[in-house]
Amino acid sequence: MTDKELQNGGVPDSKKEENPFSTESTAVEGIYLPPTFPGAPSWPDKIRDLRQMMLRDDDIILLTYPKAGTHWLWEVISMLRKGSAEHDANTKVQLMMEFVQNHILDDMPSPRTFNTHLPLSMLPVDKIKARRLKLVHVYRNPKDTCVSMYHMARSSPQMSSVVPCETFGDFAEHYLFTDKQIFGSYVKYLKQMHAFQEQNPEVPTFNMSYEDVKKDPVGSVKKLASFLSLSVSDEVCVQIADECSFDKMKAKEAEKEKPKLHSKTLDKESLERMEKNKPVIFRKGQIGDWKNYFTVAMSERVDCFLEEQLKDLPFTLTFE
Ligand code: A3P
Repeated sequence: MTDKELQNGGVPDSKKEENPFSTESTAVEGIYLPPTFPGAPSWPDKIRDLRQMMLRDDDIILLTYPKAGTHWLWEVISMLRKGSAEHDANTKVQLMMEFVQNHILDDMPSPRTFNTHLPLSMLPVDKIKARRLKLVHVYRNPKDTCVSMYHMARSSPQMSSVVPCETFGDFAEHYLFTDKQIFGSYVKYLKQMHAFQEQNPEVPTFNMSYEDVKKDPVGSVKKLASFLSLSVSDEVCVQIADECSFDKMKAKEAEKEKPKLHSKTLDKESLERMEKNKPVIFRKGQIGDWKNYFTVAMSERVDCFLEEQLKDLPFTLTFE
């Protein structure tokens, strides 16, 4: 590896040059946001637009910190809303609030299942409250999200240009103990989520953990159906859990995740580069992979930190 590549967080020069994105993250209201792609609005403009976005009564918003299982649960919710274990023609990425311009979101047919990693303060929160939109919040133990994000960062020139991912130790230190993490720190994310729910009990919010879904997929699909007031038979819930299993979703990935989203803003060459540099999403899909990465000392430090930071929150973290 050359010195320059080392400085670039291990991204080979060849990949760096191919990177169609900006190589800087921007902090908006204290939250670091990912580099933008050519033609996209600046983050302050995008957040301003998002807060003004029109919502419909039947919109649902899936709220997740990155790597908590967004793709998985988005697919489950989409299937439940269809009432069948069929993949939606739209992809999760087309309904990702922070990356899609308002006019495109506005044109999406109902029912829309949005997803976002942004804190609620950056969303059209007054409209969410006024319409009492259903919110689904999925969380996962931070050690596994850290490992998952580490791999995603290393596989993506866009990400590896803005976070230190040369070694896992450097990455984990930055990820767990600083605010300079993309989409902000996980601890802060959970705190704002809890505060919103405490202050807005009238907004129906369903909290579910990645680990609970993993351990009981069918039961979790049924609970979600009940929260969403969807009458879906037990048989279909079983089919949805199966169709959304890690292996099946990974197999579907190649077909599903085409970068249609950027087709209006990127030229053909950039789209091809983007497809080639697509970050890894469906990696292992397991609980406890962190044990293969954290030293005992680091793991104990993280436990103490999380215990202290999250002691008043109702979210139960499961590490195995
Ligand atoms: P790993 O990197 O640990 O494998 P997100 O969708 O929020 O980006 O989260 C991605 C993480 O969820 C990845 O974790 C991915 O493998 C996992 N994942 C995606 N689909 C899954 C599924 N059907 N079952 C279990 N885990 C899944």
